[in-house]
Amino acid sequence: RSATNSSPESHGTDLISKLPMRETPSEPLFLYKNFWFRRIFLERIMLLEATFKARHDDIILATNPKCGTTWLKALSFAITNRSHYDSGNHPLLTRHPQEVIPTIDVEIPLNGDLTFIEKLPPPRILATHMPLSLLPESISIQGCRIVYICRDPKDAFVSRWHFMSEFFGEKPDINVGFNMFCEGVLGYGPYWDHCLEYWRESVIKSDRILFLKYEEMMLEPVKFVKVLASFLGAPFTGEEEDAGVPEEVVRLCSFKTLSGANSSQTEVVQRGSVVVKKSAYFRRGKVGDWVNHISEEMARKLDDIVQEKLKGSGLVF
Ligand code: A3P
Repeated sequence: RSATNSSPESHGTDLISKLPMRETPSEPLFLYKNFWFRRIFLERIMLLEATFKARHDDIILATNPKCGTTWLKALSFAITNRSHYDSGNHPLLTRHPQEVIPTIDVEIPLNGDLTFIEKLPPPRILATHMPLSLLPESISIQGCRIVYICRDPKDAFVSRWHFMSEFFGEKPDINVGFNMFCEGVLGYGPYWDHCLEYWRESVIKSDRILFLKYEEMMLEPVKFVKVLASFLGAPFTGEEEDAGVPEEVVRLCSFKTLSGANSSQTEVVQRGSVVVKKSAYFRRGKVGDWVNHISEEMARKLDDIVQEKLKGSGLVF
C-alpha cells in the first residue's frame, strides 16, 4: 500500500519494516535517514513529516534525550509566562515540566490528530528529540527559532542508561549499552551527528538557532537564562533584573526545586504512549556523574570517538 492511500494509523509502518534494523537488549532500532529510532517514535516522526504545519512564531526546543529537556522546558515556560504567576503559586510547583510543553514526536497520537498543539496560544513552544534533518520542512520554511541543548556524551550515556529502566523494567548491561552508544546505535543516535547538525546550523544562522551546553548552563545559570529569555523574545527588563527576576527563574527551575516538587515515586507523566514516573526525570542533575558509572578506559574510548567525529567542526565537549 502506498503512503498516499494509507490511513494515518498505518503511516510509515510498511516502510519501517523495510528499514535496516538492529536488535538491542530492549527493543529493535530502525535506521531512517542516518538516525536510529524505536518504532513507536519513528512512526510519529513520519506522521509529523507529513502533517505538521509550523507557524512562523513557533519556538522549537530540540534535544537529544537526557541532555536537559526537562530543565529547558521549565526555563522556557517560566520565562515566557512570568507575567502570569508569582513564584509562590507557580504551575511548575504542581505540574511537571514535561506536561507544560509537549514533545511533538513523543505525543502526537497515531491517528495524526494535532489538536493537542493546534489549540496552544501563540507563540507555541514545542519540544522535540528529532534531528535537524528530520524536522518537518515547514519549520525551516517558516524560519522558526530553535533552542538546542546538548551535554557531555559520557553524562548523556549514563543518564540514558539509568532511564532505560523506566521503559524496560531493568537497565541493560552497561557494557552492552556503552558499546552500542559508541557505535552510534541508540534511539535518536548517533549522538554526535545529532549535536553536529544543530551545531553547524547554529554557526550559520545564529539568530535562528541558540546552541546551549548543559555544563555551561549549570556553571552560569543566570547568564544563560538571560540569553534564553532574549532569544525567546522575552528579554528581562532592567527593572526585572534589579528585582532579581532572572535569579528567581533559575531558583524555580533548579534541580532542587523541581525534583522536590516531583518527588512522588508513584505519580506519572503520560506523554502519548509513554508513561514515566515524574521523579524519573530528576536523577542527580550533576555534571560529571559518569565517573561513578563508567571506567576511565571507557571514558577515554568515548572521548576519542567523539573527538574524531567532531574534528574540524568547532564543537567540543
Ligand atoms: P542525570 O540523569 O544525569 O541526573 P532530560 O530532561 O532531557 O530527560 O534529561 C534528564 C537529565 O537532566 C537528568 O540527568 C536529570 O537529572 C537532569 N535534570 C532534570 N531537571 C534538571 C534541572 N532542573 N536542572 C539540571 N538538571 C536537571
